[in-house]
Amino acid sequence: MTSDDRKKAAALAAVAYISSGMKLGLGTGSTAKHFVDAVGEKVKQGWDLVCVPTSEATRKQAESLGIRLTTLDETPVLDVTVDGADELDSELRLIKGGGGALLREKIVASSSRQMIVIADDSKKVATLGKYPLPVEVVPFGLKATGIKIDQALAWSGNKGPLIVRMRDGKPFVTDNGNVILDCALGHIHNPEKLAAALSSIPGVVEHGLFIGMASIAIIATENGVETLKK
Ligand code: A5P
Repeated sequence: MTSDDRKKAAALAAVAYISSGMKLGLGTGSTAKHFVDAVGEKVKQGWDLVCVPTSEATRKQAESLGIRLTTLDETPVLDVTVDGADELDSELRLIKGGGGALLREKIVASSSRQMIVIADDSKKVATLGKYPLPVEVVPFGLKATGIKIDQALAWSGNKGPLIVRMRDGKPFVTDNGNVILDCALGHIHNPEKLAAALSSIPGVVEHGLFIGMASIAIIATENGVETLKK
């Protein structure tokens, strides 16, 4: 079974949590993509679903599948958001943003009654932080904001270089026109303290720590699908 097969297995297992008539948040990334495909199948079968995508990429995919889309302005409360993660721990704390969609992902998840994470078992870790933590930052004052992020890292007991995410030789620009600093921390000490410190910095739009948001994680392994609940 490849990693992509496991991602698909987790995505298909999440379909058990949705039903016709629901308002859904659609995540971003290679795992969420399988869930969006599954939602497209349900729509073809006649299910009445209305969805908010968390990125332009997901919006395009959903449109191509004929999924009815809405916005959080029209539909500010959703039933369920299903999304992938870059890392998750046993308390269902997540690192997200590897695909650069963390801001919309967090807004959509926080507007949902339930967030379900889908992942293959490579994403499950004892301690968050091996995956660099993405921090979305306004381009104005990038260097000054970076210095404040370093201070927040030190204050919360963390340390590691900040790397401006690049694409095709230029800084990667998010769907919201911002840039991303990836913080290579190794281990994140006290994720709650770090999350609060990062959120207090002017210039930081959002960070990739999703804490207290996911209530179910569906993790696909070689031996089947495991569900963690909080
Ligand atoms: C997108 O910004 C991310 O938060 C993704 O949800 C996360 O990177 C997981 O992506 P994959 O499913 O592609 O691993």
